[in-house]
Amino acid sequence: MPALTTTPTTQVLYPKECVALYPNEIVGERVSKYAEVHSSCIPKHIINYHAHVSKTLPETAKYMISISQAQMMVFLSKTVGAKRILEIGAYVGLSSLAWSHAVGSEGKVTALEFEPHFAKLAEEAFEANGVRNAKVLVGDALEILPTLTPTEPYDIIFIDAQKSGYPAYLSTILNSSKPGAPNRLLRKGGLVIGDNILRCGFVADDSEDNPWRTYDFGPHRKEYWKSQDVMSLKKYNEIVSESGRFENWLCPLWDGVNIARLLD
Ligand SMILES: C[S@@+](CC[C@H](N)C(=O)[O-])C[C@H]1O[C@@H](n2cnc3c(N)ncnc32)[C@H](O)[C@@H]1O
Repeated sequence: MPALTTTPTTQVLYPKECVALYPNEIVGERVSKYAEVHSSCIPKHIINYHAHVSKTLPETAKYMISISQAQMMVFLSKTVGAKRILEIGAYVGLSSLAWSHAVGSEGKVTALEFEPHFAKLAEEAFEANGVRNAKVLVGDALEILPTLTPTEPYDIIFIDAQKSGYPAYLSTILNSSKPGAPNRLLRKGGLVIGDNILRCGFVADDSEDNPWRTYDFGPHRKEYWKSQDVMSLKKYNEIVSESGRFENWLCPLWDGVNIARLLD
């Protein structure tokens, strides 16, 4: 567990580690563990890779989704019978491994990643685990996404890159997935899954009641609660709700996940 940050009066856990839907953190953690244990297992190599990254890349390992969230995504993917998944923001490939497992050997996962070093580690993880149905495209997703013309549209697009880009990603997906459009990005009925959509709750509550306002997110994230990231996530949720083209469920677990189904 990451180090605790203290203020003179409050002790605040690193946001993604804190389970806020229960009366206190201890109960929250126990309930989450119980839920994890009583959900279908995901393969050991994914759990091992999560542990390996947590140990070897402690500075950035918190970028990864949790095993519990991976369980949800695999479940969801299998439920909708997804075979083609696009991931925006691969980091070192943990969530790609989960998608790869979910779509099976006949499916395909394409992941976009800005940082060549992270992309290389992801490809190495695929290789080491015999994963042949996933690949990483290296570059800025804001530039790559509008150029994608898949022969078959994606069943799921998972957005987990820089938060300020979320509205642009969503607009591109909507524009490139219109009914009748050739090479549309997302199929009718396909899912757009936006991660970290509540961002420590700031998206819904940035008042002084939210103790994470005083959390030290680092020098480049001063007053993070009123940052461009938070504004962009609000905008993203508005587009989902107001476009008229989605049905969605905004799940308040983890750091918030907006699961939206394209209606047309
Ligand atoms: C939260 S991490 C992704 C974690 C990964 N989905 C997982 O759960 O294992 C976000 C990643 O997106 C990448 N990223 C941020 N902005 C990007 C962009 N514009 N284009 C491509 N990748 C980007 C970052 O380098 C980082 O590795």
